[in-house]
Amino acid sequence: MTDQALVDLAFSMLERSYVPYSRFPVGAALLCPDGTVFTGCNIENAAYGPTICAERTALAKAVSEGHRAFSTIAIAGKSTDYCWPCGVCRQVLYEFAPELTVLVARGDGDYVKLSLKELLPHGFGPSSLDTGANS
Ligand code: THU
Repeated sequence: MTDQALVDLAFSMLERSYVPYSRFPVGAALLCPDGTVFTGCNIENAAYGPTICAERTALAKAVSEGHRAFSTIAIAGKSTDYCWPCGVCRQVLYEFAPELTVLVARGDGDYVKLSLKELLPHGFGPSSLDTGANS
């Protein structure tokens, strides 16, 4: 799976987005080391707070199907700026894949490639609990 193919899959998910409130569709495609891809879209809610971002939709699909290792995620939106992942999604992805590569696309199809550690430096993950108060 090339980076471009993963970005294309993220774009293909925009039409599945349920965004009656923000009108801001987001698509995601999450690649596992074994080549499996899980896609996602944002799913909004009238109560606003329960809204699920595209990245977390993809991650929940993957984990619930038994996948916990991830190599790359592509995130796509329609706006002029790159569709940067929100802080909550950065944290949730860090739990499973601190070494994740992140492809962030904008509406014209251009995308940038970063590491999750660039987007979430000094992240708090499972190993952060090793030297906690209970040890
Ligand atoms: N959104 C995502 O799907 N992913 C992000 O990382 C940023 C925000 C969605 C949530 C909401 O449905 C819409 O974009 C506007 O915030």
